[in-house]
Amino acid sequence: MYSTQLSLTSPQSPVNGFAGRADLYSRLLQLEDLAALHALRDEVLGALPNPDCYVREADEAVFYRQHLSPQGATIGVFHHHQLVAYAMLGLPSAEMPHPLADALGLSGQERAELSSLSSCMVRPDWRGLGLQRALLGARLALADGFGRRLCVGMVSLHNHSSRHNMLRLGMYIAWAGQLDGLQRQITLIDLRRHPHVAADDERLIDSNDLDAQRQALTDGYIGIGEWRLPRQVRLRFQRRLPGQLLA
Ligand SMILES: CC(C)(COP(=O)(O)OP(=O)(O)OC[C@H]1O[C@@H](n2cnc3c(N)ncnc32)[C@H](O)[C@@H]1OP(=O)(O)O)[C@@H](O)C(=O)NCCC(=O)NCCS
Repeated sequence: MYSTQLSLTSPQSPVNGFAGRADLYSRLLQLEDLAALHALRDEVLGALPNPDCYVREADEAVFYRQHLSPQGATIGVFHHHQLVAYAMLGLPSAEMPHPLADALGLSGQERAELSSLSSCMVRPDWRGLGLQRALLGARLALADGFGRRLCVGMVSLHNHSSRHNMLRLGMYIAWAGQLDGLQRQITLIDLRRHPHVAADDERLIDSNDLDAQRQALTDGYIGIGEWRLPRQVRLRFQRRLPGQLLA
């Protein structure tokens, strides 16, 4: 289901091709790539379309190391040896504090099977080519390979591209509210089974209307899609049918 195109080879022998482009290649980043990663992040964070889309982590050095093997993985996409995009997968231990798992009320067993889509950035010149989507597919495949059937993500209400890609690859909005003072949605996927919903019981909610999204989630709906209009995105919440474990 998920396109990976991820080279797990060493930096010396990358496999060409990523997201349908023969001039790109991908590999897992290592300690020696952190300077290039930091430079890419500085460029992207200095020119965000909306500052709410991504808030820099308080301690980036710790954050980077938490997403290198064995605690996680960071996939880099390169063009002529220049880093043009990256995406991180976290592999937290069940005992680690995890605000998203807390918000979702995950059990100890579910936390042991959890991975997190921690961060993804694409340099401005390389946007709109499907790199984020391919990196999401690669991370879901990687999570599955690590035996983490649950994958969680967090998105700003203003980040339509990220939410679109998550919904397109089968994730759903499982929670909405304030996290560290920011309005956020939490997206989730269980790679072993998809939630059952009542397709004829739907609420269309403005992507900025946090209160209505919270109410829908409280009422047993989950966000499974979107309706894109010229100046508005409406989110499709459908009622979840009973009989499954997760929120
Ligand atoms: C967000 C970001 C990673 C997207 O990267 P990208 O490689 O350009 O994304 P993709 O090309 O894979 O996908 C963009 C998708 O968003 C869709 N999209 C764009 N605007 C949209 C909107 N207003 N509503 C819904 N979907 C929208 C596009 O149509 C495209 O989907 P499609 O291919 O199905 O048509 C990139 O813009 C970025 O680095 N932003 C700054 C950092 C950031 O916000 N990171 C994400 C934090 S969660």
